[in-house]
Amino acid sequence: MDVRHQILSLSALSTLSADALLVVVAGDSLDPLLDAAIAGPLADAIAHGDFQLKAGRTLYLHRLPGVKAPRVVISASAGTTPKAFKAAVAQGLAALKTTGARRVGIAAVGLEVDASHAEATVGAAFDAVYVYRHTKPSAPPAPALEAALLLTDKGHAKMAQLGLARGQAIAAGVQLAREWANRPANHCTPTMLAEQAKKLGKSHDLKVEVLDRKAIEKEGMGSFLAVSQGSEEPPRFIVLRYNGAAKNKAPVVLVGKGVTFDTGGISIKPAAEMDEMKFDMGGAASVLGTFRAIAELKAKVNLVGLIPACENMPDGRSLKPGDVVTSLSGQTIEVLNTDAEGRLLLCDALTYAERFKPAAVVDIATLTGACVIALGHHRSGLFTADETLATELSEAGQAGLDPCWRMPLDEEYDDGLKSNFADMGNVGPRAGGAITAAMFLRRFTSKYRWAHLDVAGTAWKSGAAKGGTGRPVPLLTHFVLSQAA
Ligand code: BES
Ligand code: MN
Ligand code: ZN
Repeated sequence: MDVRHQILSLSALSTLSADALLVVVAGDSLDPLLDAAIAGPLADAIAHGDFQLKAGRTLYLHRLPGVKAPRVVISASAGTTPKAFKAAVAQGLAALKTTGARRVGIAAVGLEVDASHAEATVGAAFDAVYVYRHTKPSAPPAPALEAALLLTDKGHAKMAQLGLARGQAIAAGVQLAREWANRPANHCTPTMLAEQAKKLGKSHDLKVEVLDRKAIEKEGMGSFLAVSQGSEEPPRFIVLRYNGAAKNKAPVVLVGKGVTFDTGGISIKPAAEMDEMKFDMGGAASVLGTFRAIAELKAKVNLVGLIPACENMPDGRSLKPGDVVTSLSGQTIEVLNTDAEGRLLLCDALTYAERFKPAAVVDIATLTGACVIALGHHRSGLFTADETLATELSEAGQAGLDPCWRMPLDEEYDDGLKSNFADMGNVGPRAGGAITAAMFLRRFTSKYRWAHLDVAGTAWKSGAAKGGTGRPVPLLTHFVLSQAA
């Protein structure tokens, strides 16, 4: 998929040679500058009650006299925001989905296209053509869309180009994250995830190092290893490095939960929907996706990625409820519930992160069902005691149309983690479960600025369109870019 910019004024839309023209209209009146060959039939359809300029409505017009493009789709936008624009572009492309349109011009009426609109356009276009095929080669062919041309006047060209470049990189990252979250656990083992990281390293000039079980043991990551010990699949600890800034500049560190399948272990999960636990490496996938985006943008920043990857399985050698493990930090943990495994991987990766003397550490994890209950599927949970990080991550989420919502971290929530047999238990009471999980992680992050994103509700969609979303790659990419500036 290629998304480019082309200068063309609204009054000349009919001259564009393309397979289709998608005209997004914001507001309830038509711009008098809009090409009469389009404005005429559109006004006529509105006058006859065949179309309303209401968000979500699209109008398909075939072979309009005087219009070079054989197909014209009008898509009404809820307003002028990038979010509304993206939805309208997505609607319009959906209307063209079953046509043979390969080159589509996209124009905006009633709104000024800036960089964020351009970025949103790329997101919508990539979403429109993604088809999962890895284990379903028979999947229907992707829509014919090959090239989208964002049309603006000269004055908006620079901003549009900037946004398109950012959008392309983010969309490529989203696609990578989405693809890996979709792959089933027998096609996405810790070893395969590590191989993908190495491949990304080769194509995007990253340093990638992979620790195997022996090396992980030598490091002393007793907590991470304890989760992995019930599986025949060997664990991997993946370290990625992107150097875009001066050597002495402190890096941003991203830590992604990489549980390639979460059965719950001995505290086994119910059978219903357990298949979806193949996406329990969504955090890891978002780290890979963000590296792709940042490397493609050649951002002037240093970035480290840490991915502890393993399976959580029941077995004769599995971790048992009540077992006490020693983390890399030296703190001991009583494992009261083997299904709270994510934090057991992450705590060791968070301690490992100290050696990079990071400017900030952000971990990303499909950590708790409680976070899904709290925030649903729209906003990721954001946990941090650092006001600056809270603002930067919230703004990054808004800018990338990948929103999050800050949750509390009061000391009181830590009480639930007390244990008579170790420095802490790995679970607290059911109530406030997403927060106690964050409080657990916080105990390993005293050496640097830290934030935690719980993406259990946002990295995956259930229901008919079930599959990975590629979130929070847009949020993370915007955040890392903000650290470069
Ligand atoms: N991977 C799950 C969390 C999860 C649940 C992600 C649903 C996406 C959708 C995590 O490892 C887990 O099992 N968490 C437990 C924690 C509990 C035992 C304290 C949970 O949320 O039930
Ligand atoms: Mn679990
Ligand atoms: Zn899990």
